[in-house]
Amino acid sequence: RVLILDFGSQFTQLIARRVREAGIYSEIHPCNVDPERVKAFKPSALILSGGPSSVLEGGCPDLNMEYLDMGIPVLGICYGMQLLAHKLGGNVVSSKDREYGRAKFTAMNDCVLFDGIEDKEDLTVWMSHGDRVEGLPEGFVPMGKTDTIEFGAMGNVDKKIYALQFHPEVAHTTGGDIIIQNFLFKVAGLEPSWSMASFVDTCIEDLKKQVGDAKVVLGLSGGIDSTVAAVLLHRAIGQNLHCIFVDNGLLRMGEKEEVVGFLAEHFDLNVKFVDASQEFLDDLKGVEDPEKKRKIIGYKFIEVFDREAKAIDGVKFLGQGTLYPDVIESESFKGPSAVIKSHHNVGGLPEKMNLKLVEPLRELFKDEVRRAAYELGLPEHIIWRQPFPGPGLSIRIIGEVTEERLEILRLADRIVQNEMVASDWYRKVWQGFAVLLPLKTVGVMGDDRTYENVVALRIVDSLDAMTADWSRLPSELLARMSNRIINEVKGVNRVVLDISSKPPSTIEWE
Ligand code: XMP
Repeated sequence: RVLILDFGSQFTQLIARRVREAGIYSEIHPCNVDPERVKAFKPSALILSGGPSSVLEGGCPDLNMEYLDMGIPVLGICYGMQLLAHKLGGNVVSSKDREYGRAKFTAMNDCVLFDGIEDKEDLTVWMSHGDRVEGLPEGFVPMGKTDTIEFGAMGNVDKKIYALQFHPEVAHTTGGDIIIQNFLFKVAGLEPSWSMASFVDTCIEDLKKQVGDAKVVLGLSGGIDSTVAAVLLHRAIGQNLHCIFVDNGLLRMGEKEEVVGFLAEHFDLNVKFVDASQEFLDDLKGVEDPEKKRKIIGYKFIEVFDREAKAIDGVKFLGQGTLYPDVIESESFKGPSAVIKSHHNVGGLPEKMNLKLVEPLRELFKDEVRRAAYELGLPEHIIWRQPFPGPGLSIRIIGEVTEERLEILRLADRIVQNEMVASDWYRKVWQGFAVLLPLKTVGVMGDDRTYENVVALRIVDSLDAMTADWSRLPSELLARMSNRIINEVKGVNRVVLDISSKPPSTIEWE
């Protein structure tokens, strides 16, 4: 088990992923976690993440030196390296310029971390730092350098303490996964033991113990998270799992049938279908502000779900598909970060319902949920569904949501989905969808002038939705989508392509 102490880096989750990918269980804890929790976790190795702070400033996040006395191997990354150097008597200085992006790194002194990496003298690494180490602490030797920094890596072989100024966890560092594996296997002597098959078996046994013969209620949305949570719970407690599917009237065409209908039929899941579309649309009438739409939909969902759940006798637990990133997001050590969009639309549910929570996916990342879905025998069309936001099509209709506009968007979106599947692009992109704009433009059809709606295509590549870029789709495919939408969807005479990246744009338009 590896403990990752989070000092606020945007990459901390990636460290955990790399460690899990190596078959070793890991958890992230904030750097100021109660030391008793660290001891109780009994880590076999410790990784210190990067972070935005400077050890040269007062009040910077600190390292509890007791952790170094536990005698376990330690790997410090970026801020983690500076902190180790600073605390152990080395010298950290502030650089005039921040170094950000790719750099060429030369590994030195046969450092075990770089075993098996080709081009050790000319390694591409990803840097993101202001300060740097200029004097090593006693017992440490330099293990790598770049053109601009003398101590790009350092290590104390006897104490098994290593540190890197660059980020091995990001994909831009060549061989970064090997560096992390060398730390885990060669320095810490760990053996891979964490696999998805073992996770699924243990999880089902744990759920049986946690829930016993009580009833669980769970909101099925058709997304992969709630689906996998439901199938795991179903394996554990069978018909005591009561799923509720709320049709909010903002779904895509076929949404209900393709996943939830399929699960009820082929996996024998106990699902109650609730058509609440009119209630949602009534509440959304005249509302244009995106955040208001989200709030209205969130509140309505809670109201409907609560009402339906109360109609089931003797429910003790609320099942949720909460993922690991959601858990650490709420516990993590972060500076103030702006709320850009209120994404967690069902956040208020547990407080309102007075039920105990059961969250089978609390330890998993998104890609691990997909692997669990494979283990559970779910079909590919469910496993590879693109993410779809809780507020549904309402945030893809800019301005007021009406039934008429929903119908236009559904038809246009259907064409986008069909063409992406038919051309094998559906799985290659992160998300691809249509957006209905609140404006009309002039067109010509036959001999007549038209004045109709504009549809935008938003199709992006991303790894985690934090950053994204527009997908470079073949122009023939884009042309086919555009032609079909204009010819087949009444009320649309123009299609445009969104070519913005996130940041500074976002994936959705609202
Ligand atoms: P943005 O638009 O912020 O989207 O770049 C990032 C990812 O989050 C999804 N998204 C939402 N998901 N409720 C959700 O459940 C929301 O209100 C919401 N807004 C955006 C979006 O589809 C993308 O995958």
